[in-house]
Amino acid sequence: MTSSSLSSRFGRLLILPDPDAATAAAARLIAQTIRNDARAVLGLATGRTMEGVYARLAAMHRDEALSFSGVTTFNLDEYVGLSASDPNSYHHYMRTHLFDPVDADPARVHLPDGAAADPGAECAAYERAIRAAGGIALQLLGIGDTGHIGFNEPPSAFDTRTRVVELDEATRRQNAPMFGGDPEAVPREAITMGVGTILESKRLLLLATGPAKAAILAAALEGPVTPEVSASAIRLHPDVTVVLDTDAAAALSPAFKARATVAD
Ligand code: GLP
Repeated sequence: MTSSSLSSRFGRLLILPDPDAATAAAARLIAQTIRNDARAVLGLATGRTMEGVYARLAAMHRDEALSFSGVTTFNLDEYVGLSASDPNSYHHYMRTHLFDPVDADPARVHLPDGAAADPGAECAAYERAIRAAGGIALQLLGIGDTGHIGFNEPPSAFDTRTRVVELDEATRRQNAPMFGGDPEAVPREAITMGVGTILESKRLLLLATGPAKAAILAAALEGPVTPEVSASAIRLHPDVTVVLDTDAAAALSPAFKARATVAD
């Protein structure tokens, strides 16, 4: 399959003028999913990019009565060795940015347990819980410097499931600011949904902003579809929305932008 026939499969590529507009568009898509189905199952992501999305959703909860009380959530990943109360854990991130500010039901929110005594069993249980909930309706995705979605570092086969992965040095550098600036302070391993797990979601929503994401996004969206860039796997999915700001979209070819923008 050529890169052009793959890229023409995109449902939508939205390019907004700045990060604020891009995060607002992503938040609107999530809110729409909840308004269409108050018991929606959402796949959630972490990272600095998503903070604006969660701030918008929290504002919609406050100002527009958007309720999360019936929503079930599954996060993509968690650091191995960090307990839910650790301030650097993704559990803590999610409580701070979304779950506490809205009316999330603690019984319906799920993240992998990075402190599980048996991480293998934890991964298998996570997969079972996603299936038991009926699968993920909308999975939010960011992209890391290595091209990862979740923590699927290169190479990650497209049929991988939730598992323990070793974090790339580049990822530990990227996430060091959240750990006081020292890459060595970033855990060496994480539990992540696999690429195969992510591809089973009914709909994917990838959000990226800022110039630092431009090169890896061009590789993911226009380069080869390869386990070396796990985000390229989204091109195999039939229902994908990619939301970018102009800086993140800067390295995409004009032809790709034009075709994808009018595709839906
Ligand atoms: C972490 C997460 C990824 C996320 C990435 C991007 O590595 N595991 O799911 O996409 O951060 O982070 P940021 O938004 O801070 O650039």
